Amino acid sequence: MKVAGKTYRSIWLDQQTPLVHVIDQTVLPFRFDIRTLNTVDETAEAIATMVVRGAPLIGVTAACGLYLACHADPSDSNLRQACQRLLDARPTAVNLRWALDRMLPTLLEAPTGSRTAAARTLAQQLCDEDVATNSAIGEHGLELIKEHAHRSSATPVNILTHCNAGWLATVDWGTALSPVFKAHDAGIPIHVWVDETRPRNQGASLTAWELGAHGVPHTVIADNAGGHLMQHQQVDLCIVGSDRTTRTGDVCNKIGTYLKALAAHDNDIPFYAALPSSTIDWSVRDGILEIPIEERSAEEVTHINGIDHQNRMTRVRLSPNDSPAANPAFDVTPRRFMTGIITERGIARASEASLLDLFPEQRASL
Ligand code: MRU
Repeated sequence: MKVAGKTYRSIWLDQQTPLVHVIDQTVLPFRFDIRTLNTVDETAEAIATMVVRGAPLIGVTAACGLYLACHADPSDSNLRQACQRLLDARPTAVNLRWALDRMLPTLLEAPTGSRTAAARTLAQQLCDEDVATNSAIGEHGLELIKEHAHRSSATPVNILTHCNAGWLATVDWGTALSPVFKAHDAGIPIHVWVDETRPRNQGASLTAWELGAHGVPHTVIADNAGGHLMQHQQVDLCIVGSDRTTRTGDVCNKIGTYLKALAAHDNDIPFYAALPSSTIDWSVRDGILEIPIEERSAEEVTHINGIDHQNRMTRVRLSPNDSPAANPAFDVTPRRFMTGIITERGIARASEASLLDLFPEQRASL
């Protein structure tokens, strides 16, 4: 995607040196900063502190981190240790494990002397695959948006999204926002309701920034506003991302997604998750019982970041100093509230049979 006329991906390998560059997502939309990752420890730290975030992106970032670890020391023990360090950075998105599973066995089979080159090739391959996958998700989602397009071109399709499942959450295109970008590019009038997504405000800061940069009409809303808008026919369609989807179609995504799905169900509004197959955890059946939910710092709830009237980044407290706060970062939307799952191979119903129809090669592993 373009930023001030220049094309960017959210992560890229340096052409000359063993370094990885990322867009720092903790300072957007106020600053556009590039950060350089030198080591696996810096990579794990960037994932944990959400300099990079979004399930597909943290998977690819982990792959790049393993490449940096390999360059430092390609021994079996170092690679295994590096994988554990990266896996521990964030527990919910399964893409982290998926990416390392794609890398580690191949690297361990290679002679030590050729491991760094192999790791670089594999990491680059995962980056490129992610872009192609998300573009395909966008094409399938575009067909869905076309079905909802109104007869009158003056009336936009109103789409509600939660958190940021845009290009910043992937290498490029995004998942939930990929169909939105494609619909806008195809001249279909759309308007996006952007949930602010407390406590970290990925909607207000990142999704709004992405949509604005691409010229997509949008409105930021408080998280609590979605149900009201749905009751008043102001939402045609909800599309969200996912951090882990069970093989039965339960969707784990940013905290608050479940409440939107309940409201959509009550108002007969289609509710879709858009996700690459790397987000499907084929080993898990029951999302509520089996998916580990990340518990983040209480300070993310009690404090908020922004800029003051002099454009200085600032942080303020919202609640009494001694009030405890809880911060579960994700929730699970049971499959019965999902209208469908948009993948790179097409749109499945939220059921094991329908997901397996799209990904029949997974039958062997069940
Ligand atoms: O905590 P975050 O910002 O990493 O959470 C991100 C989300 O919940 C996204 O919706 C999800 O990762 C899908 S991103 C394409």
